[in-house]
Amino acid sequence: MQLNRRNWLKNSLMMSAGAVAAPALLPVNAYCEPWLDTPETMPVMPPKGGVLKARLSANENPYGPSPKALKAISEAAADGYLYPFSYGAQLRKMIAEQEGVADEQILLAPGSGSLLVAAAMYYSNAKPGGTIISADPTYEQLMRAAVQHGAKWDKVPLTAGDYDHNLAEMEKRVGDNTSLMYVNNPNNPTGVTIDPVALRAFVDRVSAKKPVFVDEAYIHYTSDPKKFSVIENVKKGQDVLVARTFSKIYGMAGLRLGYLVGQPDTLAAISKWGGGPGGLTMTTLRAALACYTDEDFIKYSLAKGLESREFLYQTLKTNGYTYLASGTNFVLFPIRMKGEDFVTRMMDQGVSIRQWKFDGQYWCRVSLGTMPQMQAFADSLKVIS
Ligand SMILES: Cc1ncc(COP(=O)(O)O)c(C=O)c1O
Repeated sequence: MQLNRRNWLKNSLMMSAGAVAAPALLPVNAYCEPWLDTPETMPVMPPKGGVLKARLSANENPYGPSPKALKAISEAAADGYLYPFSYGAQLRKMIAEQEGVADEQILLAPGSGSLLVAAAMYYSNAKPGGTIISADPTYEQLMRAAVQHGAKWDKVPLTAGDYDHNLAEMEKRVGDNTSLMYVNNPNNPTGVTIDPVALRAFVDRVSAKKPVFVDEAYIHYTSDPKKFSVIENVKKGQDVLVARTFSKIYGMAGLRLGYLVGQPDTLAAISKWGGGPGGLTMTTLRAALACYTDEDFIKYSLAKGLESREFLYQTLKTNGYTYLASGTNFVLFPIRMKGEDFVTRMMDQGVSIRQWKFDGQYWCRVSLGTMPQMQAFADSLKVIS
């Protein structure tokens, strides 16, 4: 009986996994992420009855989950009646070994976003009314959560011209009231990667005074993740946290998994506010165990992403646009109309993207999709430009 049920589940899951990978057109209601966006940048829905040809607004990776992860999910689903007790510890160990740290230096959670929020709650309650310093614009989830818990947010504009973190100014603003320094490398929404030597030296100095949080969600899309990461600073015992996610290179955004690398005491303190293996599912944990060290898949996923990124660069050049060179799975470029109009007109063509306004300029951020999706973007851009 058990075996029959298992095989039946496996076969039907394999079939539905194949079906998910295939379609180029998504139904209208596939666009559904109101929890993610702020009202001013929320892409509008496609016209009534329209189809979404390309969802390029949430920096997802259409090449995941990997075949090994899909197989693990289909097997794990049949064990869904069991608590996944030991799998969290197994995954933590696997990640710790890969990163060269102790098991206690890894904190898992359903998505790195929930760890950003847990850290926000911990630091804003540890120092009521304290200030979090970040670049502007950057990924805002941690600071928004902290502000809800009474923190102040000190935004440091990106450098003029190259739109990099202004590390010198950020360091200058560290004071008695600072509760945390947040750095996003490479940065969302610009895609710009910080010089690794400068960043490590910055973390050396700042972490001696105040905790530093480096969000490395997109690090796998840089030319050399090990070189650009500050996990080396964690290994030196510094007061620094590194956030990583399975949502990007591993293509598991919907499965929800992320982790923090940091000092054991800090992670224990943050885990009182969120994180830990309790919120993780049997399917997600076993998928992650199956793909975390799958170098072939990581290489494939990256190669496909880079192919789309190169196509996007060429498309933008051909249509007379400039862009910021990206170390991520998205590209930001200045646009020639109001951001809201650009978003609406692209959505009328069935393509969702996001817009920003900073430095007196409107910008479009477009995520890397499959080549047919990038072609849909290119066709739509031509129509509306
Ligand atoms: C910079 C950055 N950090 C964290 C996250 C959260 O990712 P997740 O919660 O899916 O791990 C995102 C999502 O896009 C992001 O762009």
